[in-house]
Amino acid sequence: MNRIFLAFTFLLTLVLTDRSLAMQKQANILILIHSDEGGTYEIAKEVAKGIENNGNTKAIIKRVKFIDNPKLNHIPVANVSELSSYDGIAFGSPVYFGNISTAMSEFFAQTTTLWSKHELEGMPAMVFMSAGSGAGRELAMQSFMNMLAVHGMVLVPNGIRGNEKLDKSIPQGNTVLGTTSLASLKNVARPSDGDLNKVKKCVQLVGIFNASEQFSDHAKLMNAASDLTVEIFGDQGKHARATLGASSIPGNSSVEIQAIFEIE
Ligand SMILES: Cc1cc2nc3c(=O)[nH]c(=O)nc-3n(C[C@H](O)[C@H](O)[C@H](O)COP(=O)(O)O)c2cc1C
Repeated sequence: MNRIFLAFTFLLTLVLTDRSLAMQKQANILILIHSDEGGTYEIAKEVAKGIENNGNTKAIIKRVKFIDNPKLNHIPVANVSELSSYDGIAFGSPVYFGNISTAMSEFFAQTTTLWSKHELEGMPAMVFMSAGSGAGRELAMQSFMNMLAVHGMVLVPNGIRGNEKLDKSIPQGNTVLGTTSLASLKNVARPSDGDLNKVKKCVQLVGIFNASEQFSDHAKLMNAASDLTVEIFGDQGKHARATLGASSIPGNSSVEIQAIFEIE
């Protein structure tokens, strides 16, 4: 599962901070969660670390509702009206009966004014979930994404990593749609500190930029990804790379970056 979180947080940083790179200002990314027992909050902290690996990006964790739990009481509660002030939002919820939690659903039910004013349209968004057995987690994520799609947000899923070598002895946290943890299986660690230390080497980065035919400075744009990788991993972050321009990229994104890491 560590490998999944590493790739997840790295991609999140690159995709969600694309707006800030373009605008040369700090990007503020909201991580909006509901958590009863703390599992979703554990993932949220890992997502925040991934986002803040880019020095120009701030992650703010908030929750949709006050639930009295000493482990969670320090997390502020978000207002619906503040959502449009962020550059991107990562939504996290427990899986309850193959769906998102009632608290998250109730929060969304209050967003009709934002919807009618198109205030979230075009904003990058992704989902992650804390599950027990994992049963129904993809159904839950899909229903999560349906609500974001109604708002016209740009959905950032995990995708299928067909060539990734999986250690099948470890329950895998990734799904096509987003990351989950499996909280109820015995001896399965939740996302934890120190995962990046398992990276032996960044092998290759491939950057694809949505650019006009005349544009030829792709390499300069790609330097942001290369510099970030070396900043995080030091010498192990030095990599081979390829940089391309494309007339369009899925989801109307302006950049897509593929990273191949060798892991211990
Ligand atoms: C009412 C209820 C329904 C649940 N339904 C599911 C489910 O359908 N699938 C699953 O994998 N886990 C299910 N769970 C387990 C929770 O998803 C799991 O405990 C999760 O880690 C809770 O997240 P939290 O720690 O952030 O509160 C359910 C738990 C409760 C209380």
